[in-house]
Amino acid sequence: MNDMSAEGLAAARAKMEAAGVPHRAIEVFAHYYGELEAGATGMIPEADVDPLDPPPRLAEIDVDEATARDALAQTVVGKLNGGLGTSMGMDKAKSLLPVRGDQSFLDVLVEQVRRVRTRYDVSLPMVLMNSFRTRDDTLEALGRHPDLPVDGLPQDFVQNREPKLRSDDLTPVEWPADPSLEWTPPGHGDLYTALDASGALRAFLDAGYRYLCMSNSDNLGGYPDPRIAGWFASSGAPYAAEVCRRTPADVKGGYLVRRKSDGRLVLRETAQTPPEDADLAADITRHRWFHTNNLWFDLEALAAAIEEHDGVLGLPLIRNVKTVDPADSSSPEVIQIESAMGAAVQVFDGATAIEVERDRFLPVKTTDDLLLVRSDFYRLDDDARLVAAEDDAPLVRLDKAHYKLIGDFDARFPAGPPSLVDARSFTVDGDWTFGADVRVVGEVEVADSGSAGRIDDGTMLSGA
Ligand code: UTP
Repeated sequence: MNDMSAEGLAAARAKMEAAGVPHRAIEVFAHYYGELEAGATGMIPEADVDPLDPPPRLAEIDVDEATARDALAQTVVGKLNGGLGTSMGMDKAKSLLPVRGDQSFLDVLVEQVRRVRTRYDVSLPMVLMNSFRTRDDTLEALGRHPDLPVDGLPQDFVQNREPKLRSDDLTPVEWPADPSLEWTPPGHGDLYTALDASGALRAFLDAGYRYLCMSNSDNLGGYPDPRIAGWFASSGAPYAAEVCRRTPADVKGGYLVRRKSDGRLVLRETAQTPPEDADLAADITRHRWFHTNNLWFDLEALAAAIEEHDGVLGLPLIRNVKTVDPADSSSPEVIQIESAMGAAVQVFDGATAIEVERDRFLPVKTTDDLLLVRSDFYRLDDDARLVAAEDDAPLVRLDKAHYKLIGDFDARFPAGPPSLVDARSFTVDGDWTFGADVRVVGEVEVADSGSAGRIDDGTMLSGA
């Protein structure tokens, strides 16, 4: 390490210590800082890996009710809720957005847990990983569900914070206009450090829980599925990732591969593919399943792995380049050191995967996704699961200039989304505000008229 970056690390450490960041989280940061400084790219060349062997398919697995119940009785449901939804211009948890009428993502997730509890007569605690940005609002929203907490178990734990680093000299950035923007949560790979340092992991183990199923709070498909719980418990595996069959539309996102050097499963993200391997990586007959970020853990194995590595699991570094104020592209460029939860697959001997159907993967990354999950293309069933009207969802593409940010988007659909149940695709160019009871049928393209316009109440938009 040269003098300049040694100073950068020392300054970052001091800043974290002063903010009360736990020792192990600082050690994890220091580990990644070293990698960043050494120019780590996390690249995984195609020549070093084999595609994932066909995993068992949930649809073909027999799990009896008693096995499912036994597993659920020892399961904790965890949701990643520390991200800020910056892609949609948010600075708070996406899970607080309304998604079905007045119900937020969080309300629906809580309802899913409630239904499984009742149906299987299990306690099924739910725990959120929040960040310093998402915690207060989320806990306030959870206050509407007084039946949710279980026997003094934590309802959430807070992930760590780390300084954003100036990309020119790797020192902690200063931003007096809003000092809170000098900090970032370190990605969802922080789950392990935060679960451990917060004491939540120990609390669940001491209360007799054995399994944890984690998923993103913006994925309403991550329902605590009794059959997967039963399968996972019977498998004896320490760790399992849910994967889905890739379709030609699934060009982005991570997938599992087997590392030739040691036979371990590893997660390969798009950004970890060398450019010369891009074609092979995109070949869905070669890499046939994508990673959903729905994961199952044996809590004892998890605790043992964290101890064995002294809290530093050494997951691959994700170097995220942004501006210190995400809303101000002229603010200084920063590097955020992050890691991915699913990268921990490489840490566990005997880690495995299971193929699940697409209904377990309904992430909301953009307002295009949000429009669809809010629309009548989906309905909530008796288990509070989102059920699609048919297999192929309509392709929604809204003009980035007018709909990308959540505030702009909501202002243009004041009466809620149009009906999309009979739509095959819905493309909007230009600045349109939609009235109530608009229906989209077939393939519809609304063209830019050059100025702001309105689609009147009750309009039927139909195309080929
Ligand atoms: P993503 O990174 O895909 O989404 O996280 P995001 O952070 O919500 O959105 P952008 O990228 O800023 O627009 C997937 C899941 O992981 C959680 C998010 O809350 C989401 O549920 N997450 C992400 C964390 O819990 N902590 C993090 O540090 C990052």
